[in-house]
Amino acid sequence: MPADRFARPALPTSPVHAGRRRWLAGAGTRAAALAGAALLPAARATASSPEITLRFSHVVAEETPKGLAANRFKVLVQERSDGRIGVQVFPNAQLYGDADEMQALQFGAVDLVAPSLSKFGRIGLPEFELFDLPLLFDDLAAVRRITLGPLGQRLLHGLARQGLVGLGYFDNGFKQMSANRPLLAPQDFAGLRMRVQASQVIAAQMRTLGARPVTLPFSETRRALASGVVDGTENPVSNFWTQAMHQVQTDLSLTNHGYLGYAVVTHQRLWQQLNTHDRALINQALQEALAFGNQIADAQNDNALTALRQAGTTRVHTLTAAQRDRLRQAVLPVQQQLARRIGPTWLQLLHQALARQTH
Ligand code: LMR
Repeated sequence: MPADRFARPALPTSPVHAGRRRWLAGAGTRAAALAGAALLPAARATASSPEITLRFSHVVAEETPKGLAANRFKVLVQERSDGRIGVQVFPNAQLYGDADEMQALQFGAVDLVAPSLSKFGRIGLPEFELFDLPLLFDDLAAVRRITLGPLGQRLLHGLARQGLVGLGYFDNGFKQMSANRPLLAPQDFAGLRMRVQASQVIAAQMRTLGARPVTLPFSETRRALASGVVDGTENPVSNFWTQAMHQVQTDLSLTNHGYLGYAVVTHQRLWQQLNTHDRALINQALQEALAFGNQIADAQNDNALTALRQAGTTRVHTLTAAQRDRLRQAVLPVQQQLARRIGPTWLQLLHQALARQTH
């Protein structure tokens, strides 16, 4: 992919998608010199323009846990810096989708992204896919003890290999399965084309259940469901609802089979150029925004489920303990199959940490 693809973009005008397309069309003429150009504009702040502007790109809707946390971050940073540091949030893949947001960050075209943990394997960090192992985490407390413990911190430090800095984790929640039929038992998945994120572990999960995984960007998922390119998908309900997937899926099965969380990432050049005070201000605001995201995530998913039930388009199925257990048994081989990809040492650390939690 050419570097000028990631020239630091001008703001898209409304409507945002049209703006993005125009920018993409003009990207070739914007010199490569722009890419990796001064990350922090030298110009001093004026009454109307901040001294530093951070561009935060993400792929989901604003009313999701990630969207709300990003907006909270923006408000906190702007308030605490008295407008000297500005944050522009680009939701809904307005600037970049899953396929290119990480590269855009590496090229300095944006300053912050918060991809799901499932999307780090594609940039050479497959150990992050341990979070995708199906039916591994019993609850968010179990996840949190990994993300806040030494294993989680080691994973974040590994981002340095890609010129990135991991600033923290936060939750969306647990994923549910959707299709135009209930998905309550392994045999229900037979032959279905299921949209997945670019994670080998999630692909293996679907294959083990007898489905065919189809990797697609998040922003294309609803259309693919509507047109029948894929038959089903998995996501927490807040993502399902805010993308209006309920309009194109007749059944949502509350499998809670996998965790969906995020890491907020910036690029080393930016982080190193910031002075100590600004770095601390940004980091503090971010940690508060992530804590806020964690606090509201459950409620966002619960509210989305209530709204979805009220919409009446989609039957909602709850699994019995026995059904969930059968799913767990069915996906157990995924750990063995993907051990080499994730790395046996990482898996060992994961299991040690999980075992410690239950004692
Ligand atoms: C997906 O691609 O399914 C989600 O991870 C999108 C997101 O960032 O929540």
